[in-house]
Amino acid sequence: MQTEDSLMRKLHNYLTGFDKSTKPIPFYVDNLFSDDQVARLRGIIEENRKIEPFTIGDRIEDGYIRTSDFRSRYQPKIAKNMSRMLIEFDMPKDCEDTLDNIAKPLYSGDIALCHYNYIDYNLKWGYGDNHPSLPPHLDADENLVTINYCLDTNVEWDLYVGNWNDTGNFTKYSLSAGQTIVFSAVNQIHWRPKRRFNDGEFCEIISMDYCPTDNYRFTGEDNPIDPEKFSLERKKYLDELQSRPDMMAAFKLWNDEGLANGIDVRSM
Ligand SMILES: [Fe+2]
Repeated sequence: MQTEDSLMRKLHNYLTGFDKSTKPIPFYVDNLFSDDQVARLRGIIEENRKIEPFTIGDRIEDGYIRTSDFRSRYQPKIAKNMSRMLIEFDMPKDCEDTLDNIAKPLYSGDIALCHYNYIDYNLKWGYGDNHPSLPPHLDADENLVTINYCLDTNVEWDLYVGNWNDTGNFTKYSLSAGQTIVFSAVNQIHWRPKRRFNDGEFCEIISMDYCPTDNYRFTGEDNPIDPEKFSLERKKYLDELQSRPDMMAAFKLWNDEGLANGIDVRSM
């Protein structure tokens, strides 16, 4: 059994920056997928969309509860509290090869596609009065390389990402339909500005993460900060993260920009 100390060390090992990175990120990739690949991905996603969804985040007095049984990983997940829907699918081999060619050369170590899903940000997935949002965060997983592909959107909703080797400062990237951006979700704080969505507005993203092949997601070990199994470690991790100057700077920018657009700090 691991001591608390060794768990924390293990966790912090992957928050060490870009030592093994081979070139600066973020950067855009033009025409990530071929038209045929996009059509097949869309087809797989739409097929899985027909599965009965699994809803999380229904309101109760003091929080959120899960309302339906979890039956399979392919069930669309409606996160009402975040106004988004997630769909998991099997990545076609040729698409994974395309992604490998981009992600693997960015890291001098063995990494592989470990997690990916389709995300639809849309008012219709929420309660009607909560807007889709993506507050500043670092991924709680060892996602050294993240490829975000905008499958389709009818809104302008920029992505902020921490700068290369200056992760306490941030740059705004537009991500319109068909565009792809590559960044490091465990090393670079990222978020979307607070934005009021109107009925019919949407933003569809396919997010794809690469992590080391010795990560728990490949070995079958426990996640060292699993929220249910290691709640204390999880809390420590989150507390430490929230007190970091770069995270505080990101939240300040997120809130200030919201205020400038007339969105109250607490309302989103
Ligand atoms: Fe993220």
